[in-house]
This record gives sequence, structure tokens and C-alpha cells, in this order.
Amino acid sequence: MDYISRHIGPTRDETQEMLEAIGYASLDALIDAAIPQGLRMDGVLKLPKPLTEYEAQARLQELAKKNTVLKAFYGQGFFSTLTPPVIRRGVVEDAGWYTAYTPYQPEISQGRLEALLNFQTVVQDLTGLDIANASLLDEASAAAEAVGLMSRAVKKGRRVLLDSRLHPQVINVAAERGRVFDLEVEVTDLSQPVVAEDLVGAIVAYPGTEGDIVDPSPVIDAVHERGGLVCVDADILALTLLEAPGEFGADIAIGTTQRLGVPLFYGGPHAAFMAVTDKLRRQMPGRLVGVSKDAEGYPAYRLALQTREQHIRREKATSNICTAQALLAVTASMYAVYHGPAGLTEIAEAIHGYATRFATSIEKAGMRVRHAQFFDTVVVEDAGQEAVDKLAKAGYLVRKLDDEAVAVAFGEDCDDDDLRALLEGFGAGEISEGERRIPAELQRKTEFMTHEVFNSISSETQMMRYIRKLGDKDLALDRTMIPLGSCTMKLNPTAGVETITWPEFANVHPFTPDEYTAGWRELIEELAGWLTEITGYDAVSMQPNSGATGEYAGLMAIRQYHLSRGDDQRDICIIPASAHGTNAASASLANLRVVVVATAEDGSIDMADLDEKIAKHADNIAAIMITYPSTHGVYEDTVRDVADKIHAVGGQVYIDGANMNALTGVARPGDFGGDVSHLNLHKTFTIPHGGGGPGVGPIGVGEHLIPFLPSDANTDYVAEGSDAAHGVPVAGTYYGSAGVTQIPWAYIAMSGAEGLKAATSNAVLAANYVAHELNDAFPVLYTGENGLVAHECILDLNDITARTGVTAADVAKRLVDYGFHAPTLAFPVAGTLMVEPTESEDKAELDRFIEAMCSIREEIRQIENGEIEYEKSVIHNAPYTAHSVTRTEWPYDFSREQAAYPVDTLVHQKYFPPVRRIDEAYGDRNLQCACPPPEAFDIAVDELEPVEEIDVTTTEENRK
Ligand SMILES: Cc1ncc(COP(=O)(O)O)c(C=O)c1O
Repeated sequence: MDYISRHIGPTRDETQEMLEAIGYASLDALIDAAIPQGLRMDGVLKLPKPLTEYEAQARLQELAKKNTVLKAFYGQGFFSTLTPPVIRRGVVEDAGWYTAYTPYQPEISQGRLEALLNFQTVVQDLTGLDIANASLLDEASAAAEAVGLMSRAVKKGRRVLLDSRLHPQVINVAAERGRVFDLEVEVTDLSQPVVAEDLVGAIVAYPGTEGDIVDPSPVIDAVHERGGLVCVDADILALTLLEAPGEFGADIAIGTTQRLGVPLFYGGPHAAFMAVTDKLRRQMPGRLVGVSKDAEGYPAYRLALQTREQHIRREKATSNICTAQALLAVTASMYAVYHGPAGLTEIAEAIHGYATRFATSIEKAGMRVRHAQFFDTVVVEDAGQEAVDKLAKAGYLVRKLDDEAVAVAFGEDCDDDDLRALLEGFGAGEISEGERRIPAELQRKTEFMTHEVFNSISSETQMMRYIRKLGDKDLALDRTMIPLGSCTMKLNPTAGVETITWPEFANVHPFTPDEYTAGWRELIEELAGWLTEITGYDAVSMQPNSGATGEYAGLMAIRQYHLSRGDDQRDICIIPASAHGTNAASASLANLRVVVVATAEDGSIDMADLDEKIAKHADNIAAIMITYPSTHGVYEDTVRDVADKIHAVGGQVYIDGANMNALTGVARPGDFGGDVSHLNLHKTFTIPHGGGGPGVGPIGVGEHLIPFLPSDANTDYVAEGSDAAHGVPVAGTYYGSAGVTQIPWAYIAMSGAEGLKAATSNAVLAANYVAHELNDAFPVLYTGENGLVAHECILDLNDITARTGVTAADVAKRLVDYGFHAPTLAFPVAGTLMVEPTESEDKAELDRFIEAMCSIREEIRQIENGEIEYEKSVIHNAPYTAHSVTRTEWPYDFSREQAAYPVDTLVHQKYFPPVRRIDEAYGDRNLQCACPPPEAFDIAVDELEPVEEIDVTTTEENRK
């Protein structure tokens, strides 16, 4: 069978039945009726003919073989590490983990929330700071986030100091972010005394990019004296041996957790971290897992402080971080759980041991080592290309620093043969034992990872079961449809996913010279070419590592374009009220002022309001950011008009391409007015969502914007004050989350032009089928031409809420008892549920969802009919744990059976959530963001708090 027939859920007969139900003869007829004619693309996409799964894997194997894996002793932020097989197979390669969604619905996400809380605890402990997030996109953008945080927190200063000892890519990404905020960025050696004034803060390296370890205390004190903040960019593994930045008074710590068991992946995806002092916690970007309690008083995890998120704060958001490499954070956290504090220290000691033996052997051979004190990286003086080439021939990658020195950075997989080979590369013979090279005064004295979870697992059996125990608590795509609007939770083709851990892909260091990475580059360029064709643009950059980073990169391209033309005054970004929150947050990160344009009655852009805003701001308009089809799930026919109007006054048109599942193969944003779009490859193009990342958010641009595509942070340093038009790097490596690009490559290669079009058509069919079947129970809020929706539909509960008290959140929680992940809650319209079924769900699964929703509607009717009060209803008290429906106490008027088995289909397919409804407000009032003590879970049954009313007003983490 061809791949696309496996990808699309319904069989031909089922497709026909669904078409009949909504009154269309064929998929083509449906698409003709749904999509405004003027928007359709001419002809079909020019893509190669589709491959079977086996052919696609054979081709990927060919590409993989074109890479020469040099064993990485390069460092610069990326180190060889060993992913324990139990974690690789149990997490990275396990659909239960990789197909989960961001844990906005905490009751069905306790497993991954626990894993992320473990991540936060590791980071918090090792950095010695009060609170850590989970997680950020990469080390370089984490530094950029730190610059943003410092400038928000310290209003007075205008200058930021970046340590010249930071990795070059970190300096370049952070410096550009600072410049966008109009900060004065000074790159200076922070191992020397600080003289600058007017500071917002400084980022100091610990250790430096050359491996040198310098006490960060003097710079921390000096910057504090001048009123600034200090961020320490730390090596997470080195912190097992080095004293924690928090102990020296650092305000912020950042870094990457790649070397905690996450493969090199040719640069990403890897989870970065940020930890801050308590006083900065509300300013911290990214997600934060916190501990709250459920309706019965049991501890339960949830995303905390969500009101600071972009969804609600929009242009006032602390950052635009949404998708954030969660699967990789989980992987790193599991690595920490498996090894524990003693194991991590042992690994760090072994690495340090190799580095010291190497350094001493080099010295004994009569050569010089640049830095006397280091953790894992040794710089050999008077060495150059010759040594680099010789070692490459022997299969090793080392880093040529300048014409006079070569750096060798040790990782977890080093052995004595490697050490011998490396020494030989420099002409040194014997291995000599080395002295410890960690400065005595910086030697770690504080304890870390003392919590039981890091000290109770020693065997593989225990680890396997811990991973399984957490995974079993969660609902992911491997168990049920996840009908989240605007999220496109569709099938992730195993034929593509499987290849990401192939060593010829996974073990390639991002700074490996091009001559060894032909396979990687061919694959990525081929994919970029296909995406260019699919979007109708002229070029695509693969660098952004999330949709929101794509937004930022696209807006920066627009900003730089205007600047290059002397249009410095163009600093306004028009954004419709219905836009995804990241749009406004990204615009403000790009230092654009946001002007909101209203929504018309029918959900489209209010053209009169748009005209007014354009007339008022014409000369200052940099761009409009629109989502197509809009977040209202409708193909608006005004999009071309909107684009023309903005172009007429000299603005640029950004089309958010997160909803490409409604367009691929039938219409192209580059053809209907867009100058730039980002795509969420972790939606339409099948990269799994991973519980909140990996993300890949490439941008496509028209020809005039090509010079402003993201530059390479490692090689293209653009000095401050340079007048030359240039692109701005947004991630530390040129191809961002390169390591998962095989997945969209495989999806497109196996689908071909017709397959992609069929996927889109079936996605539109599924949404219209659900809308049609549910419209009587829950009215569909917006429809477009011919009463049709696009690939998702919004169900309006406002009237039901007004009449019965039942909220959209109640329905979302009740769906858990039916075994479903809730649809998107209250976005983009309050009091609604947005359903996106995708093409991958078969008719039986769609019908199961429809049955559940109709059954819930009947439960609501009992309240309408006065049979039961809202507060006492089965729906308001949902969801129900196995414990709650089996213990003696049962304080409800409805039966246990109605609570747990409301429809027959559940009898042989029941999911019980591990917790009852979570008290959202309690968690924010009592913020706790590290692992709670084990006793916290030890509530004896007779001490149970009575099942009480909890505040169920929708809070942000309910949303989607
Ligand atoms: C319409 C839209 N734009 C942008 C984004 C942001 O993408 P990401 O989460 O990858 O940053 C999303 C994510 O949900 C989205 O739905």
C-alpha cells in the first residue's frame, strides 16, 4: 500500500460516507466549495513522485552514508554524550512520549509534567538558583532571552556586556537581540575587571569557550555595584564539579542540557535552560511546571504562572516562547534520574580525567597548553590545520581556534584509544597521568539532586518501569485522537521518526566541516526546496527552531529590509485580534509596535477597522501579520485585499503558516500576497509534538527578503554599527533543529504532490464532518463560503454557559473521562472549544469523539431540565480517578458508572486520569517549582480532604 493511504485515516468508503453526510459528491467538490476560487493554486505542486516507506528509508540511508561521522572532540557548546538505550528506546523512540502535546491539560499530563519538574529540579540544584524553567530552545537563544530579561528588569541601564569568552554563536545571537532592543552591546573579556557603566547586565561564561575556568565572583560583584544583573552561561555537567553560580550571587544562569544524554543531532533539537533568583521569577521566559493540588487535595503538577504567557499577555508577554524542546528536556531529565548525582559526578570526573591526562601528556611532549585550569576543554598552542586534518583522517573532529591553537573538548564517550589517537594527532606519544585542573576555590561544595527520585533508581529495570509509569499517566496520540485546534496533531510517520537516531545523522557535530556532512546538507536543502515550492516563496531558511522563532526571524527580515531602504520609521505591526499570542509577542521582540485590528461579526478581519488603521499609520506600517486560514477556522476571501492594501502603503505581509494543513497542495501563501511565512513543521509536516517540542519553524520569503534571512551565528559575525543589510541569526546553528528534519522530508517524499493535496482535502473533510455532526449539540461559531469551515471548527458554548453554568472548561475536563484529550479551550474566542481532527483520524475515531460530545451534551441537558444542579453534576466534578470511583465514599447523586463509563465503548478501552481536577489558582498562590518531598503524596485515605467545590473559571493553562 502507498504511504498516503496509511497516513489518511478514513478508507475510501468511509471518505464517501463522510462526504455524503455533509452533502458533497467528492473531495474536489468539497475543496472547490470551501476555498475561495481566487486563492487556489494553478496546477499541482512540482514534487518528485512519491516513495514508499521502504524507498524513503533507503534514500535516507543513502543520505546518511554521505555523512562522515567524525568523533566529536570539538566542544563549543556541543559534546559527545551517551544516551542510555533504556531512555533512547523508552522516551525518544516511544510514541507515548513523542506524540504527546504540551501539558496544558494537566490532568492527562502528569507523567510528562513530573519529568519536566525533574528537569527543573536538576537545573535549579546544579545552578544553585531559586527557580528554573522547562525549557528554552537552544543555548544561544537562551542568552538572547537573558538579555531581554535583564533589560526588562533593569529599566535604567542601556548597556549589556557579553563575555568574549562565550561561544561565538552565543555572542552573535544574544548581541543581535540586544541591538534590536536598542541596547548598547559590548563584547569584552569578563575575566578582566569591569569598567563599564550604565549597565543592564552582563553574561559571563563559566567555563569559557576555550575551556578556561575563571571565578565569576569579581564580575558579579562589579556589575551588581553598578546596578546591573549577571547571567552566568554555565556548562551543566561541569557544575557537578564547579561551585554553583547561585553561590556566587548570580541572578540568572543559562546553558544547554544537550550533554545530558541528548545526541548532537547536527546542532539541535536540544533543550536549553534558564534559572533565576526568586525576585526575577515572574520575568522568566518559557514554561514553568509547578505543584498544585487536585480536587481531593492530592499533589498534582501543572504549568504555573500561565498568565504571564504570550497567550494572554501578547505584546506585553515576557517572551514568545511556546514550543520549547520538551521531549529533549524529558530526555535530559531521565538521564539525570538514571545516573543520579553520584553518576553525573562520576561522568564529569571521567571527562575531566581524560582532559587532564591529555593536557599533561601534551606538556610532557614539550608543547604548551593555553589555560592551566579547565574542566573538559584543552587548548594546545602552536598547533593548527595540520593537526586538525591529521585527526580528521583518523576520524576525530577537533576545533581550530585560530592560526596558533587547537581546542580538544572531551565528552562522555571518550576511551583510552581515543586519547592515544588524539595525542598522536599532535605528535605526542605517551599517556601521562594528570593533576586535577579545577581551581580549588571553585570546587563544588554544595549538594545537589538530593531528592529521592534522583537517588532511588539504579537498575535498568527500575528505569524502564519509571519511564513506563510516567508515560502511562498521560494521554498522547498513541492512545487517542487529540483534536486540538491550531495544533494539527496528526500522524508522525514512523518511517521518518525512526531515522532520527541513526548514528550517521544523530552523532554529527554541528560545526563539522561541509566536506563531511554532504548527506545532511543535501537532505536539508532538498527539504527547503520542497517547502519553497509548497509555500510559493523564493527561498526558505531552516534555522528557526520553533514557530515563534520563525515569526521573530520573519519579522526581523522585514525590519532589516525596511532599514536597508532607509525606512527607519516603519515600526508598526498590525495584528488581528484573533491572532495566536506568539504573533504579538514576536512583534514586540522585534521592537515593533503592535496595532490590533478588530474582528468582524463573521470572524473575518474587520475591513473598515483595517482601513482606518492603515490610514492612521500608513507611513509607519512595517507589516501586517495574519494567519491563513485564520484562527477562526475559516477560509476568508479577503486575504488578497488585505495584502494589497498593506502593500499599497509600503508595508510587508507576514502570513502565519501554522495552519498549512488547510492549504498544502491547494493554495500557497506566496501566491496570494505573502512576503514571508513561517511553517510549523511540528504540525502540518509531521514532526511529533514531543509534549512541547522539538520545534522546526522555517520561514519562506519572497526574493526581496532573501538577503535578510537568518545568518550563520557561528561564522557570519556582523559587527555593531555595520551599515550593510544583513540577516539576523536566531539560533546557535545554521540549520536550527536539523536533527529531526528527516521526518518532514520523509512525509513529503512519501506523499508527493497528490498525496499532500489528499491530506489537506481529508483534513477539511474531517473538520466539516465533525462540525456538521456536532452543530446541533454545540453550534459552530464561524463558517465561510457555502457554510463550510476549513481544517478546524470552533464550537460555541457561551449560550450553554449562560443558561446552565457549564463552561467549556467543564466539557474539556469531562472529555478526559471519555478518554479524550480536550480540544483547544477558549482560544481564539472565550467560551469555545476549537476542534481540529486532522486527516489521520479514521471515521470510527471521529464518531467516537462525536458520540462523547453528544453524550456530554445530554449530561448538560440534565442540568437544563432541572434534574440536577450544576454544582452537583457529573460534568462539573469531572474528571474521575479510578480511586475516586472505587472507594467507599461516594458523595455524588449520579452513579459511579455514569462517572467512569458513560458510554459503552469505554468498557474495553478505559483511561483513568491519575488526578482529579486540578486547582489552578492554588498552584500560583503557593508557587513550588521543584520536586515535592515524597511525603507530600502520602495522604492516607481517612485524611482525605472532602471533595469540595473548586474554582473552575478558565485559566490560561486550560486553554490548549
Ligand atoms: C497560529 C500559530 N502561530 C504560531 C504558533 C507558535 O508556534 P510554536 O509553538 O512552534 O512556537 C502556533 C502554535 O501553537 C500557532 O498555532
